[in-house]
Amino acid sequence: MTDEKQSVLKAKMDAAASAGIVVPAFNVPYLPMAEPILNTLAELDAFALMEVARLELTKFESRSLEAVAKEFRKYADPRTASLHLDHVPVIDEDGLLVDWKSLIAEGIALGYSSVMIDGSRLPLGENIEVTAEVVRMAHTEGVLVEAELGSVMGHESGPLPPYNELFESKAGFTRPEEAKEFVEKTGVDWLSVSVGSVHGAISGAAKSQKKVEARLDIEHLRKLWDITGIPLVLHGGSGIQQSYIDEAIKNGIAKINVGTDIRQPYERMLAETGSVKDAQAAVAEKMNQLICDVYRINGSASKLESLISGK
Ligand code: 13P
Repeated sequence: MTDEKQSVLKAKMDAAASAGIVVPAFNVPYLPMAEPILNTLAELDAFALMEVARLELTKFESRSLEAVAKEFRKYADPRTASLHLDHVPVIDEDGLLVDWKSLIAEGIALGYSSVMIDGSRLPLGENIEVTAEVVRMAHTEGVLVEAELGSVMGHESGPLPPYNELFESKAGFTRPEEAKEFVEKTGVDWLSVSVGSVHGAISGAAKSQKKVEARLDIEHLRKLWDITGIPLVLHGGSGIQQSYIDEAIKNGIAKINVGTDIRQPYERMLAETGSVKDAQAAVAEKMNQLICDVYRINGSASKLESLISGK
């Protein structure tokens, strides 16, 4: 792992995890969202990732990994933003097999700094095998890898059980003993864990409705952090109760994925006014609030740089 790109991002994520500074990752289901996301990060000197998931190519309008990379290069300040390939599932939300290897290879070739392989719908052994293969493909090219263990639900089209039932039963929660084995055997850089969050719905009427206010099992999260010792990732970041976000950041969550919180204002404004500019402004307004009030990371780009250089 000698590549400069990889070591810079790795150093930033490790420094963020130990200093309790979170690195949000903002999803881009519509290409015009890239501009307000990246401009806001630069204006507020906040470090975050911009990311696109496979389902945003197939079910939304981000078109292609190449189109997203192009928008990134157009607007990103590399001090404040890095490009991540989110959820490349082995089995997708509709239960279909995905050509994950081609998508991962494409992301790496296009210069994505990190990629996520999602083998969470596979049995443990197969998830380990696939993830280890992606780590081999990515690390030789200086690209970092995120994987998921346990399952963060919500992207599937059918209705979920009532949230409280889901939380109380700990359905899909990441098991600490499996997490230890998974990290040791795969060499993955970051791990997406399931500790109570759910993804915002992406189909049917639920797509536009307010998300459930999820809770998190902080004690469970702490166990996962202690046993794995690597930066952990919280998916389904939109709409989690603030006190849980604050505690999660103190207990190992270094990256929080945020989709619904910025997608819905974009879609709502576009439907209302028909103007992409207005919809972009709605995203910028929400970004400002998330960065300053929810994640409180204005100035984090400079802070991380000085933590890394020791000055
Ligand atoms: P939300 O849409 O719930 O914020 O989840 C986003 C996410 O986890 C993308 O990977």
